[in-house]
Amino acid sequence: MSTETQTQQRTDGDGADRQTLTVIDNRTGRTYELPIVDGTVRGLDLREIKTSEEDFGVMAYDPGYANVASCRSSVTYLDGEKGILQYRGYPIEQLAENSSYIEVAYLLVHGELPTPAELEEWTHQITIHTFVHENVKGFMQGFRHDAHPMGMLLGSVGALSTFYPDANNISDPENRYIQTIRLIAKMPTLAAFAFRHSNGQPYVYPDNDLRYAGNFLSMMYKMTELKYQPDPRLERALDVLFILHADHEQNCSTSAVRGVGSSRVDPYSALAGGIAALYGPLHGGANEAVLRMLHRIEHKENIPDFLRGVEEGKERLMGFGHRVYKNYDPRAKIIKAAADDVFEVVGKRNPLLDIALELEKIALGDEYFIEHKLYPNVDFYSGLIYEALGLPVEMFPVMFAIGRTSGWIANWLEQVQDPEQRIARPRQIYTGQRDRLYVPLEQR
Ligand code: SDX
Repeated sequence: MSTETQTQQRTDGDGADRQTLTVIDNRTGRTYELPIVDGTVRGLDLREIKTSEEDFGVMAYDPGYANVASCRSSVTYLDGEKGILQYRGYPIEQLAENSSYIEVAYLLVHGELPTPAELEEWTHQITIHTFVHENVKGFMQGFRHDAHPMGMLLGSVGALSTFYPDANNISDPENRYIQTIRLIAKMPTLAAFAFRHSNGQPYVYPDNDLRYAGNFLSMMYKMTELKYQPDPRLERALDVLFILHADHEQNCSTSAVRGVGSSRVDPYSALAGGIAALYGPLHGGANEAVLRMLHRIEHKENIPDFLRGVEEGKERLMGFGHRVYKNYDPRAKIIKAAADDVFEVVGKRNPLLDIALELEKIALGDEYFIEHKLYPNVDFYSGLIYEALGLPVEMFPVMFAIGRTSGWIANWLEQVQDPEQRIARPRQIYTGQRDRLYVPLEQR
């Protein structure tokens, strides 16, 4: 079919409003009409722009996928300019104020807030699935005593796929449901086991009398007392943190879950891919990097020198900047408020908070940060809360992973049921050599 015919059909098919892009290829003088749907042009439509029939056609080149929509999703809405974050249409501010993490996990997975009966059943199912197979403990005890807990979480979540071999039957809705329950239920257990392992302490089993965040605190901190009594204010602060970290559109780790999941592998393996991506200092590892940065700055007097280093490109202000948010990260504001509650409970104000507040104040007035649209993101303050809770910095990305599990799962469920989705397999611009002749070893 000639290009003209294609162009003719496209124009007729588009009707009066002409939702199309008219492209002139100056290499050939040909004109193309590319349909615009939901503000996007389909990548494959570009392939019709050729210099000859043998030509592969035009591709889009976008390192880091800064301007590529990989999927259609109804899970989370972000508006980076306006600082808007909504889970299934509900503003994050309302959920952080009124909801619980378990209820938000239900919302993300099912798309609607639960009725009282639905929430009770959902909570019951998660509560009775918090235990892991005893062999998982043995697997985790094989790690070095000083193993990074995020590496332990990564390994143990991947290992869960071997404990539930039926999990790769991803076409069965009931199977998808039980794996969803298991992952949300067991993530805190594995996280707490990793923490206890790095402390050389015995692992603490789940306590089904406690709520999600309280049970996590019990598995983390219970010692010789018969029953751990979580402080309700700390429970609430953790619940809010898990809510704020629950999902965030197609971020690096969620894209990794979708990418791995696109091969139709089981959800444990897909989420292990997400944990691996979250581990990185530019993503979930940033909260750990923020605390190390604040400890390095140590005193307010050192802030100007540090910021000079940032502007000279020698440093990166961890906890600042975002691919989407170009004004402020709405989660950072909520976390900042939660920090005060936690400091009140633990009875001491984290001295690093004063450095963080001064750093934020100076940076927000600094030309470099204004010009680069760099504002505090979710990771800037979360680490201060975790440190106040007595967590080592290595546990910070693990806390992020607990919250993000429900968002990863919601995206995985959406993807495996999306008829448009195919295996993730991008192309490349080849920059290497071609057609080289093999040289025998003795002649090199
Ligand atoms: C999370 O995507 C998500 O939604 C992620 C997340 C989620 O909930 O899943 O929100 C969680 O990962 C939050 C981000 C945590 N990371 C950090 O705090 C690490 C520090 N920030 C960055 O490295 C950076 O801002 C990113 C990774 C967050 C965003 O990277 P981009 O969009 O690819 O931007 P970039 O690295 O290309 O930077 C653009 C410019 C560069 O300057 P120029 O080369 O153009 O001169 O801004 C500069 C960068 O040097 N810049 C910074 C900076 N962030 C960007 N300079 C100093 N300090 C920073 N923090």
